Amino acid sequence: MPWYSSEMIEEVRSRSDIVDVIGSYVRLRRTGSTYMGLCPFHSENTPSFNVNPSHQLYKCFGCGVGGNVFTFIMEYEHYSFTEAVKFLADRNGIAISGGEMSEEQKKRESIRAAIIEINTKAAKFYYALLKSEHGKYGYDYLKSRGLSEETIRHFGLGFAGSGGVELYGYLKKEGYSDTLLKETGLFKMDERGAYDKFLNRVMFPIMDISNHVIGFGGRVMGDAKPKYLNSPETKVFDKGRNLYGLNYAKKGRKKAFILCEGYMDVIAMHQAGFTNAVASLGTAFTEYQANIIKRYVEEVLLIYDSDEAGRKAALRAIPILRRAGLSGKVVSLNPHKDPDEFIKAEGTEAFEERLSSAVNSFFFEITVLKDAFNLSDPAQKTKFIHETAKKLLVFRDKVERDSYLEAIAAEHGIPKEDLKNLVIRYGNSYTENYEEPLERRTERKKKEEKGITYSYQLFLSELIANPNIFAQVKEAVSPKDFFVEVYREVAGLLYQQLEEGELIPAKIVGQFEEADTQKIVADMFQTDYEMDMSLEEREKAFIELIYKIKEYSIENRMRGLTDLNELQKLVKEKKKWQNPGNLHISLKDG
Ligand code: GTP
Ligand code: MN
Repeated sequence: MPWYSSEMIEEVRSRSDIVDVIGSYVRLRRTGSTYMGLCPFHSENTPSFNVNPSHQLYKCFGCGVGGNVFTFIMEYEHYSFTEAVKFLADRNGIAISGGEMSEEQKKRESIRAAIIEINTKAAKFYYALLKSEHGKYGYDYLKSRGLSEETIRHFGLGFAGSGGVELYGYLKKEGYSDTLLKETGLFKMDERGAYDKFLNRVMFPIMDISNHVIGFGGRVMGDAKPKYLNSPETKVFDKGRNLYGLNYAKKGRKKAFILCEGYMDVIAMHQAGFTNAVASLGTAFTEYQANIIKRYVEEVLLIYDSDEAGRKAALRAIPILRRAGLSGKVVSLNPHKDPDEFIKAEGTEAFEERLSSAVNSFFFEITVLKDAFNLSDPAQKTKFIHETAKKLLVFRDKVERDSYLEAIAAEHGIPKEDLKNLVIRYGNSYTENYEEPLERRTERKKKEEKGITYSYQLFLSELIANPNIFAQVKEAVSPKDFFVEVYREVAGLLYQQLEEGELIPAKIVGQFEEADTQKIVADMFQTDYEMDMSLEEREKAFIELIYKIKEYSIENRMRGLTDLNELQKLVKEKKKWQNPGNLHISLKDG
């Protein structure tokens, strides 16, 4: 991946007009000083997607997405930040080249690039071997598992022979050093020499989101152990941060991904036309993977093996999905073991039916819970109801919780009022023994932060709409008064622009690479009060914002202070900011 300097990035951004770029995806209509259209990120019939040419930002008032031209391309095309920069540069005929990297960065990047290059050569080597006379054994095996020629090619499947040094010999001839080859994890090296790690296995190259070969899985063709051998983690291969099949699944515009356990399952599903299937790589599903999935879809169909291990894995994955804001459903494959076997036995249509009758993941959890009790025993039934009430507390949203409560009560024959009373009781008293106690504790702190960040957002948005008040405002509030990190950084950048008389909010958004951060930053510039207000009311509200920000800032600075003089100074300063005095600020109308 090239690395672009911030000047280069800004050059691309400033020459990619947001109305022009978004206009090529979305039909935009001018309304006053901005443009409106139908939001491409959620379905709607009346336009709530707003593009602001003077700020070079967009925002959907329906689903809340927002950002600058890079964010849009990242979201719409599912690109990384760097890919989006490259895409827009190409689109506008801007020649860009990788910029200056530090020596250390250069070294790291060159090792990474070399590992990927070697992996790619290895994949081609394994593939060629599979197609050759020597690979017939492996080829026949894959065929016997029902894979077509086209599927084998699509997934780049291959074969590792049993010679011991075939791959090593080939790569040495290509001129790679032992030091570098060792980095790939494809070889065993000791005093006596170097050997291929994968022997006599069919090979599954693992690709990252940009189709780079980052590692391999290899399967024995008989019953030997281990059944699957995977590349170790290397500088390019982090198992918890990749999903097998994602490079293909991301291309579809389906609303859900299918999450399964194995390589063969992904391949069988793709071959049957379910190209939205991905697998976590033989390790437990991680938060990180959930967050990657969230970039593409809103829903995940869990399709783990029918055995006890698969059930456990599903139960572990569900809270992770929930925390990432993904809705989860569980697919049953009974009586078959896994998706591959199911499709082979019952066909595509039956599989499709199973997908569409997937159960909501919360219902699944409750069903599993229920299985652990003997409900004909009144004591156990009571226990089951109590446990169910506790579980309902995972829903923070009252409306959502109530609708689950009703459904569960009806489904399991529990009196609704009883269940409700228990939920209230546990909800009030529960601190320990609760599914996510720590998270709940941090929740309070988050709430407090959320209140202040909303004030920060309103403040910064108002400041951008009225840059003429900057001289007055900066006397009262400085970037140092912002006590949540990214806000402080953004305030600093904004103040700098205002000092220099060059106000370009989208440029600030462009300095953050993560789409999630870009959204947060874009929101700082386009937040509006939740109700309509007259100009006079706005002015009053703005002054209150200043007071609130100052107060929070002083309180934070006081925390942990031991110097008495300093503390006294702050107490005095705080008093000053507690009663809105004679500060007056004139805002523009509109
Ligand atoms: P097939 O038998 O080829 O259909 O594979 P499967 O996917 O049905 O196998 P299984 O359910 O046993 O395993 C699911 C996934 O777990 C595999 O795709 C591998 O990623 C991983 N896995 C299975 N066995 C092993 C093993 O012995 N070692 C390691 N490291 N991973 C394994
Ligand atoms: Mn299988």
